[in-house]
Amino acid sequence: SKTVALRDRAEGMKKIAAVENLEQLHGLIQGCYMCQLASGRTLAVPGEGNPHTELVFVGEGPGYNEDVQGRPFVGRAGELLTQMIEELGLRREDVFITNVIKCRPPGNRDPSPDEIKTCSPFLKRQLELIRPKVVCALGRIAILGLLNDTTPITKLRGIWRQFQGIPLMPTFHPAY
Ligand code: URA
Repeated sequence: SKTVALRDRAEGMKKIAAVENLEQLHGLIQGCYMCQLASGRTLAVPGEGNPHTELVFVGEGPGYNEDVQGRPFVGRAGELLTQMIEELGLRREDVFITNVIKCRPPGNRDPSPDEIKTCSPFLKRQLELIRPKVVCALGRIAILGLLNDTTPITKLRGIWRQFQGIPLMPTFHPAY
């Protein structure tokens, strides 16, 4: 897909709002320089899966393997997530898998509040375009990015929430 470099945050918000499909949105993510994580990434990781799915999984952000491959959840946590999906009677390619943060933080540190704020319009637009029936939020950073809620995940897990009208279920991150 075409890559348009995004540098200015205000301009970025307009371009994100203007995309008509996931492919265009993912092109913007791949060319995004709106926060400092851009300078440390190998590849941005927009997410992947069925754009017509009813179920979206949201993780934290790319780790080492994801950064190298440009794909979400391809390391050890990804093996576990894939196993969880298959235990639901689904295949990985039936659902959509993405993250709050699209670029790997150096040394796998937690993303900063500013990085989460700058990146989350991408996730919000993905969910607007996919319109799933359910979002499954994997772990603390996913909850922080989607709901801006810092309650411990042990208290939030298993209790339905909403994200922009979509039922959202918090659960543990597979790495945990
Ligand atoms: N952990 C995440 O939260 N996301 C990935 O894409 C990989 C590991």
